[in-house]
Amino acid sequence: MKRSLWTLLLTLLLAPAYGHEAKSSATNSAYDQPLRPQFHFTARTGWLNDPNGLVFYQGEYHLFFQHNPFGTQWGNMTWGHAISKDMVHWQQISNALFPDSLGDMFSGSAVVDWHNDSGFKSGSNSPMVIFYTAAGGQGEKSKGKKFTQCLAYSTDGRNFQKFEGNPIIANRGGGDRDPKVFWHQASHHWIMVLFVDEARADKKRVNTVQFFSSTDLKEWHFESKLDDYFECPDFFELPVAGKPNLKKWTLFAADGNYTLGEFDGHEFKADGPKHRGDFGPNFYAAQTYSDTPDNRRILVGWMRGGKYPNMPFNQQMAFPCELTLTNTLNGVVLVKAPVTEIRRIYTDEFKWKNVNLKEGKSISSTNRIADIDVELDPEAGSIVKLVCNGEPITLDSNGRLGCKGATITLKPASSHRLRVLVDVTSIEIYAENGRSVLSACYLPAEGQYGISLSALGTAHLKQMTIHGLASIWE
Ligand code: FRU
Repeated sequence: MKRSLWTLLLTLLLAPAYGHEAKSSATNSAYDQPLRPQFHFTARTGWLNDPNGLVFYQGEYHLFFQHNPFGTQWGNMTWGHAISKDMVHWQQISNALFPDSLGDMFSGSAVVDWHNDSGFKSGSNSPMVIFYTAAGGQGEKSKGKKFTQCLAYSTDGRNFQKFEGNPIIANRGGGDRDPKVFWHQASHHWIMVLFVDEARADKKRVNTVQFFSSTDLKEWHFESKLDDYFECPDFFELPVAGKPNLKKWTLFAADGNYTLGEFDGHEFKADGPKHRGDFGPNFYAAQTYSDTPDNRRILVGWMRGGKYPNMPFNQQMAFPCELTLTNTLNGVVLVKAPVTEIRRIYTDEFKWKNVNLKEGKSISSTNRIADIDVELDPEAGSIVKLVCNGEPITLDSNGRLGCKGATITLKPASSHRLRVLVDVTSIEIYAENGRSVLSACYLPAEGQYGISLSALGTAHLKQMTIHGLASIWE
């Protein structure tokens, strides 16, 4: 009782900071700390983890997120909320879902219920329907309760109503969580993919994803399950570029490693083994947007594990990227590209062509945050170093690409083209035309701002373009 009174008081005191503010210098000053990412989303204050409920609704991209409004460490799981018109500039608004007697608000997804299957429509707007896990037993209010799946809805994208019939799915195993819901056109059902850590007969716990179907979003029927997928599943179908009439389903969980296959509305059948999703140390719990214009499949990950000493916030999201499928000699693979809207924050541009890099000769720019496109060919035995705010990215003549202790061995090629997004505390490297990505967080070396390219040995720089970026908070 005492604790909930304090929580209420604190919520009231903090309310203005989380309100619907217009952009103002007062708001922006909240984003000007030395370790504040300048084009990656962070909570204004407090802890952030998984992206939740990614949905395009009434002209806005909604980014809900796992949030601790009361501290910079994980806890008090609440759905934070931000909106954007372009997935680049974000405005954090009032928190959307708060812990209740069923549990703390763990991860989930959102859809637009275009045909009002749920019956939550009021006025002329189709409802946004949100699925989340009530993590029973995680907070004082839900002591003794188990993890269950719940529903909330909104008809304005600002006010959220929890369904009085919650929970919609009872506990099935233990820490069941992270419902991902989408409309499956071919079977005319809504489908939910849920992580369930199932207890088997021998008491062994097995990480499974389980598929459910529904016609009204409230009542769900078990369809099938698959072993060896952990929390935060996502599942969607995409056309294969260059192969008319060929589509594939992609299934992944929090580690981002993905499987391609077929789905008939009941069961997923994998074509082959999992592919690596991200090679870096800081990419986790990614989710894709629902209901995007032009059916773009946009992914946002959590850059888990970065350090932000003495900052009022903790953790950041990855920059949104668009997913497509392409056919290669080794079969169909997933391709990622930063959303093209990044061009909206391009500032200055520097270009180089056909430069022979040697020891002692480097190329540099003073940009602290940048979008770099570079094509390199290190000569035998040489290593190219691209240093961003003191943090090195290396590429050797055997195609080994490294950053923050992680490595991608690139397929042999006459040259390697990399796209590198550099923010104050993160580096995202897109290699092999987006087939291999390495996401890493770093702490900038004080006083070593800017970008420089050099070689240990010799290397040919075919071309490099550096676009400086503007802060999204300005
Ligand atoms: C993944 C995760 C989810 C859970 C949430 C809790 O990072 O563990 O499975 O819903 O975080 O914050």
